[in-house]
Amino acid sequence: MKTFPSKSISYGVLLLIFNCFSTTASGFFFQSQPVTPTLKDTYAEYFTIGASVGPRSLSGPDSILLSQQFSSITAENVMKMGPIHPEIDRYEWQWADAVTAFARSHHMKVRGHTLCWHNQTPDWLYKDAEGQTISKDELYQRLKEHIYTVVNRYKGDVYAWDVVNEVISDGEEFFRNSDLYKISGEEYIAKVFQFAHEADPDALLFYNDYNTINPQKREKIYQMVKTLLDKGIPIHGIGMQGHWNIYSFSEENLRASIERFASLGLQIQITELDISVYPSESGRRSKRDDENDQFTPAKEQKQIEVYDQIFKVLREYKDVITSVTFWNVSDRHSWLDNFPVRGRKNYPLLFDEENQPKKAFYEVVNF
Ligand code: GLA
Repeated sequence: MKTFPSKSISYGVLLLIFNCFSTTASGFFFQSQPVTPTLKDTYAEYFTIGASVGPRSLSGPDSILLSQQFSSITAENVMKMGPIHPEIDRYEWQWADAVTAFARSHHMKVRGHTLCWHNQTPDWLYKDAEGQTISKDELYQRLKEHIYTVVNRYKGDVYAWDVVNEVISDGEEFFRNSDLYKISGEEYIAKVFQFAHEADPDALLFYNDYNTINPQKREKIYQMVKTLLDKGIPIHGIGMQGHWNIYSFSEENLRASIERFASLGLQIQITELDISVYPSESGRRSKRDDENDQFTPAKEQKQIEVYDQIFKVLREYKDVITSVTFWNVSDRHSWLDNFPVRGRKNYPLLFDEENQPKKAFYEVVNF
């Protein structure tokens, strides 16, 4: 964060003191013995291992697990446009600063997430003071200001950005018909990659999406990225989110997507890995009274097998895969506890609700 040295140093120092204290205190109470081997050491010769974090993970037991097991972090929410730039003339830096300060004090890399997305994006991006939809040129001006400001602030801290998130449709149409798309068509996608590259020519720029191992969506992503590359747009990698589940994960499809994307000469990162113990569902709903949300031995066994298959494939493609990030730290807290079913506990990660390694963890580190 070269542009704001005094602020960043004072914030970093405060956080370091806080973390030293909380790490020592909670280490004493919760987890005095580090779990070995660690994910980050086991995979040091393969790819960095990351986790997404919210502010609460930067202190207490999660912070211990993070510093022991992971070599990279991603802000789960606080670098998204809504939280970091809630009003056209106001930025909220404190939580994103805390993430980069934590990473610096624990020698971790930071993936930035995300510069342009149709979700968690404030209305001001699309509307003028009268509430009218703005022109395409005005949209580009606003995106450029946002991207220049955020990327510049974290230059030197964030080595890779998810520049564009989830623009490909899951349905018949090619592109998602988002507010961004309605204003500019597909043209904005190239623009935001260019803005990010201008802001930090050293940063690695990713296109990030889910359902990337679905054959139809894989092909659309491939075509879109190829078209952009052919035009000379700066893209360095594809982020495969990796929100999979124990019922429908396909090793064959994972392999096919890695090969297809790598054929573009790009690096690949798994950016949001978690393995739900429920089948996928469209639409959101509340938990039904008769719904069992226990982590049964059968689900546990299936999850071990899926994690085993995934990491076997990822290790095979270590030449093109440069990072694997889990979406959240442990089963203590996962966004899947409330998505797509509110209040239904999920168990998608390698550490349990007490931050202890699950059997799947040992499957992943013992190979
Ligand atoms: C998508 C986004 C992430 C996050 C998850 C749910 O995958 O890319 O930022 O919002 O959904 O946590």
